[in-house]
Amino acid sequence: MPPWHDRVVTHNGSTGDAPYLRAARPDDYDAIAAVVDDWWDRPVRSAIPRLFLDFFHRTSLINEDTDGLAGFLIGLLPPDAMDGAYIHFVGVAPRARKRGLARAMYDEFFRMARREGRHNVAAITSPVNATSIAFHRSLGFAVRGPVPDYNGPDSDMMVFGRPL
Ligand SMILES: CC(C)(COP(=O)(O)OP(=O)(O)OC[C@H]1O[C@@H](n2cnc3c(N)ncnc32)[C@H](O)[C@@H]1OP(=O)(O)O)[C@@H](O)C(=O)NCCC(=O)NCCS
Repeated sequence: MPPWHDRVVTHNGSTGDAPYLRAARPDDYDAIAAVVDDWWDRPVRSAIPRLFLDFFHRTSLINEDTDGLAGFLIGLLPPDAMDGAYIHFVGVAPRARKRGLARAMYDEFFRMARREGRHNVAAITSPVNATSIAFHRSLGFAVRGPVPDYNGPDSDMMVFGRPL
């Protein structure tokens, strides 16, 4: 049974173009791959290969509005860290930012992870991504880093964690 039993997780019916949140599907990959370099303003697509949507869609979220993809979250419930959950990527379209969409996706992921028996959540980001660092701080994550060579030589990362 998928972590989200119903496709549509939440729906704000107050306006016709309100974004809604649903569990991801493998065929969401192409829409994500088409926009990520623009949304991040740097090449990041190689960090989101298709395998994440093929094999982790049940723990990932898609946010859509009338213009198409408005946001996505790629999350995992790792089999080798039974107490933990991990958020690999979150992105919101520039047109939809600063309206609480990323926070809503994180909150929904947290609820699902708690239901599945997970007690903490982790994520990482590049030290240059000040927006991501501010976003994670604002959601109550402890911030560690830059951790030198986290992802191999010359790949320092910021490491986030918080209880669920
Ligand atoms: C980071 C990102 C996902 C935030 O999405 P968002 O939907 O705009 O974020 P929210 O509206 O839910 O913001 C939640 C909180 O994060 C913080 N925040 C969000 N954007 C911020 C910014 N540009 N600068 C500083 N703080 C910010 C704020 O504290 C905000 O709370 P507030 O609105 O009550 O002040 C979005 O800017 C994005 O997609 N950036 C490019 C991709 C990226 O860097 N992803 C993260 C790394 S994987």
